[in-house]
Order: sequence, then structure tokens, then C-alpha cells
Amino acid sequence: MTREDGNESVDLFEYQARDVFEKHGVPVLAGAVATTAAEARAAAETIGAKSGGVTVVKAQVKTGGRGKAGGVKVAKSADEAEQLAGDILGMDIKGHTVHQVMIAQGAQIDEEYYFSVLLDRTNRTYLAMCSKEGGMEIEQLAVERPEALARVAVDPNVGIDTAKAQEIVDEAGFDAETGAKIVPVLEKLWLVYRDEDATLVEVNPLVRTNDGDIVALDGKVTLDENAEFRHEDHAALEDKAAADPLEAKAKAKGLNYVKLDGQVGIIGNGAGLVMSTLDVVAYAGEKDGVKPANFLDIGGGANAQVMADGLDVILGDEQVRAVFVNVFGGITACDEVANGIKGALEILGDHATKPLVVRLDGNNVDQGRAILNELDHPLVTQVDTMDGAAAKAAELAAN
Ligand SMILES: Nc1ncnc2c1ncn2[C@@H]1O[C@H](COP(=O)(O)OP(=O)(O)O)[C@@H](O)[C@H]1O
Ligand SMILES: [Mg+2]
Repeated sequence: MTREDGNESVDLFEYQARDVFEKHGVPVLAGAVATTAAEARAAAETIGAKSGGVTVVKAQVKTGGRGKAGGVKVAKSADEAEQLAGDILGMDIKGHTVHQVMIAQGAQIDEEYYFSVLLDRTNRTYLAMCSKEGGMEIEQLAVERPEALARVAVDPNVGIDTAKAQEIVDEAGFDAETGAKIVPVLEKLWLVYRDEDATLVEVNPLVRTNDGDIVALDGKVTLDENAEFRHEDHAALEDKAAADPLEAKAKAKGLNYVKLDGQVGIIGNGAGLVMSTLDVVAYAGEKDGVKPANFLDIGGGANAQVMADGLDVILGDEQVRAVFVNVFGGITACDEVANGIKGALEILGDHATKPLVVRLDGNNVDQGRAILNELDHPLVTQVDTMDGAAAKAAELAAN
């Protein structure tokens, strides 16, 4: 998911957060994900055995307030779990369709607390928040009685060690006995935050059970996608179904692609050039209501395969009516790029169906242009200036 400020992040489903918590030693209850009512029943038979037959059927959607929306229901038997799962699967919660439920072991809740740690961009630090009054009303609490929500800055170099965890529980006003039980859990949650390169770890509710145990009953984790290279396992946590299929395809090929809503496909080398290409295309297309269809930066190594992959992704976008390839030859010279385009058209064959406007400039521009002139492909038009090429691409997309 790409945010406008360029920070990329991945939100996890609750069941994924549960698994990550467990991996770092945070106390959680048994849970299993199901995509059909029958699977839910089978899961409830095993998991319910740990809690007197009681399970909780929980909609897995990436939004809060599932409980209030009717997406979290207690089942007293496997029969009931099956029936509730049938009701909850397919439900719409705040615009999110429920495709999966988690069957969770039922907890006997004594009290519900709140804890989170997040990246506080404004104050350039980490911030921990904690309250004795957790549960479904936390947003209201934060607004109406902010003093009931402790806010403690966390030094990124130190993190939440025992002393910091103690400060947090004291600040939140826990009694000594409960506080002592929560401290080690906060230290573990810090490990989740630090070791998984998260920008948010939230537990609401963190509960004390009738037996006096502290357990994380609901978890929200946001991972910093910019740190994905350090975590081979994180790619598997991404919600492939929710991502745009073309974005997913581009990502699988290592391309930096963002789908936009217009008709002119754009390929360039270097983010700066691609961004200014978006501007000139938007300007050129304004009178005809034509806009850029995407952002695709093929970077420095624009060989035939990279160009073919890029074109393949863009041509797969049904909205695209013309493609503008704008390359300024630098380390990769224009003749290599021209050969890339030539090779891409060969690789794509009949899949290449839309007109391409190509503007080459920079290193070895004459050789590059000569290669495309010689190719004389019916779909390819060369234009020497960026503005001229943008106008041509917009015109082709308008017709
Ligand atoms: N495993 C569980 N056992 C018992 N009660 C639960 C369990 N999971 C959730 N609940 C109850 O349901 C409420 C809402 O569930 P939660 O997972 O926090 O969803 P959301 O925050 O999306 O509403 C919790 O505050 C808690 O009271
Ligand atoms: Mg919750």
C-alpha cells in the first residue's frame, strides 16, 4: 500500500498479528482462521476444547469496531460457531467484505485494558499509550477523558525495557499487582515492534482473565514495508487479494508501479523524470479529459526484459489507450533502451496492441533513435521533445 507521503506500510489481519505476537512470546489464546462455515466448525471443535466448548467467531477485516458491527460473536458450541461463521462470512463491515473468520479460544474476561506503541512522526520519537479502560470505547475515551490514556515517549535507542514498562503501567494507574503482570507483556510487545520493524503495535483489549492472566485478545500491527528487505517472511503477510492485480504483478517483477485513473500509460527511467512526465501528460491531456494512467519507473537498468515487463503491466490495464515511453539516457544509454523497446515488442508480440509514443534523449540518443527508425514498427511513434511527445500521447489516447 502506498501512502501519499511515500511511506509504505502493511496492516496485518488480527490472526496474523496473533501469530506474530505468539512468535515473540506475547501471551495470546489459541486461534485458527477459516474461510467457510464448515472449516469454522472443525476449528471450533479443537479450539473449544480448551475453553469449555466456548469460542469466539471473529471477522477478519482490516478495520476496527468489528465487535460493534456484529463481527465478533461468542459461540457456545461447534454447531453455533458454524452457524455464526456462516452469518459473519460475507458480511460488510465499514466497506470491507469478510472473507475469513478467526475462531478464537473464549476468554473469561475480568478487565479490559489498552496498549499501543507507535511511531510518532511529528515528535520524531516512539510513543506508548496505555489505559486501564480498554475495549470497544477507546476512541471515545481518548476524546472525552484524555487523562485516562497515559502517553509515554519511548526512546528508540532504549525501547521498552523493564523500567520503561513500569513507567507506562504507573502512568496508566495500575495497581502494583496487576502492573507487575503487565510489565513483562509490554516488554514482549516492544520486541514485536522492534524486531518486526513495525510502525504500530496495538492491543485492545489486553485483558486480565478470571484466572489473573494477562492476555492479548485483539491485535493490530502495521509493518514498515520499507524494511521488507530485512524480513523475508513479511511478503507472505501481504493481502494479495486486496492489492490491485497489476500492482501485484509489477511488484512480483520488481517494478516500481502505481496505478492511476487515466488513459495514458507512462514509463520512464528515474522517479523525478516519471513525475514530471505525469505533469506534462496531465497538462497536455487537460482539454480532452485525458490523464496519466500510472506511474512506472523502470530505473537505471532498462534492458529488453525490464521494458517488456513494464509494457506488459501497462498494456494489461484496460483503461490505457496509449503509452508514453520517456527515457533520458544516462548510465543506460538510449541505444540500449531502444533495443529494449524492440526486444519488448518481440517478446510481447500480439499482446502489444496500443500505440507507443517514444521520446529518447541523452546518452547515445542518435543511435537510439536510429534503431527505432529502422524498426519502423506500426505502433511506435518517435517524438523528440517531452512536451511534443506528451501532446502526441494525449491525442492518441483521446481518439
Ligand atoms: N477470544 C475472546 N474471548 C472473549 N471475548 C473476546 C475475545 N475476543 C474478543 N472478545 C470481546 O469482543 C470485544 C471486541 O473484540 P475485538 O477483537 O477487540 O474486536 P474490535 O476491536 O474490532 O471490536 C473485545 O473487547 C472483547 O470484549
Ligand atoms: Mg479490539
